[in-house]
Amino acid sequence: MWARALAYGKFGGPEVLELIKVWTPEPGPGQVRVKVRTGGLNPIDGKLRAGVFSGGLPVLTPARLGSEFAGVVESVGEGVDEFAAGDEVIGIVPERSGHAEALISPAEFLAPRPQSVSWAASSAISAGGMTAYGALGEIDIQTGDTVIIHGASGAVGTIAVQLARLWGADTVIGTASEENHDYLREIGAVPVSYGPGLRERLSAVVPDGRPVKMLDAAGREAVADSIGFVTNPASDVISLLPFVDEEFGVKFNILRYDGDVLRAVAALVADGSITVREPTVFGFDEPAKAHELLDTGHTHGKVVYEIG
Ligand SMILES: NC(=O)c1ccc[n+]([C@@H]2O[C@H](COP(=O)([O-])OP(=O)(O)OC[C@H]3O[C@@H](n4cnc5c(N)ncnc54)[C@H](OP(=O)(O)O)[C@@H]3O)[C@@H](O)[C@H]2O)c1
Repeated sequence: MWARALAYGKFGGPEVLELIKVWTPEPGPGQVRVKVRTGGLNPIDGKLRAGVFSGGLPVLTPARLGSEFAGVVESVGEGVDEFAAGDEVIGIVPERSGHAEALISPAEFLAPRPQSVSWAASSAISAGGMTAYGALGEIDIQTGDTVIIHGASGAVGTIAVQLARLWGADTVIGTASEENHDYLREIGAVPVSYGPGLRERLSAVVPDGRPVKMLDAAGREAVADSIGFVTNPASDVISLLPFVDEEFGVKFNILRYDGDVLRAVAALVADGSITVREPTVFGFDEPAKAHELLDTGHTHGKVVYEIG
């Protein structure tokens, strides 16, 4: 079937985005064809469109965008028993074909759509959830830990705060701008503003005598001001941003596609253990508007396309 899909033919600002027609084939063995309802945006979508990772080379053929989505299963390929036509699913496609009216996904990277949240919110948990789950797993959260989460009001951070609490952290301190402090309190974090004076503000809230661990979803300035609170940075700090690991001798984490983790996060959302902030929704006909908000870096909740 033919479907409209988001693409860009050259690197640049949101204005380079265009909708193209792509052919979506029948699903092969182990695959599922999904009619997409909503698609979540992530910072990487804006960075790819802007050519941050292009090394100065041009775009040769229109490049597709988008990884996370929510939709309805249309058909399944050979060997797929866990999903059937009509099932509501969420997922994440590794090859960036997610922002389209239809897509092919490996069945292993799908989870049942949590019915407790809206279509928009359910397309906004796969990437942040899998990243938060994987990164926090690397710093081995234990009961009684203090955890500092930089970028706590973002897609990764909001799920990381809630997971850290669920996994036993006693105190979760989250850095975010002031507008997001009430929301951070709601999900169980002690909010702290980032920027000049961060070290002093952290000193006022980091409890004495307990191990401090850290997840960085913000960047080097935040880590520079807070690494002194961690006794064992090499094992207890994980950054999602490039170069922070080399500069501070901490771990680096890259999103690993893991269907079991996706289904675990989806189940926690479905039973209300993790809450999801209602995203800002844009129509698929005007794709640049969503990227304009994404590019600000302060979206206050996720940005989502309503696609079909
Ligand atoms: N390595 C990986 O595999 C991987 C995976 C996912 C994400 N990431 C990266 O991790 C980062 C966060 O991703 P996300 O999806 O959570 O993004 P997001 O939803 O856009 O959230 C960004 C967060 O950063 C905060 N922030 C903005 N400027 C800041 C500053 N100067 N200092 C400290 N915090 C600041 C924002 O706070 P306010 O809005 O409150 O100002 C918000 O909490 C992005 O850079 C993304 O590319 C990496």
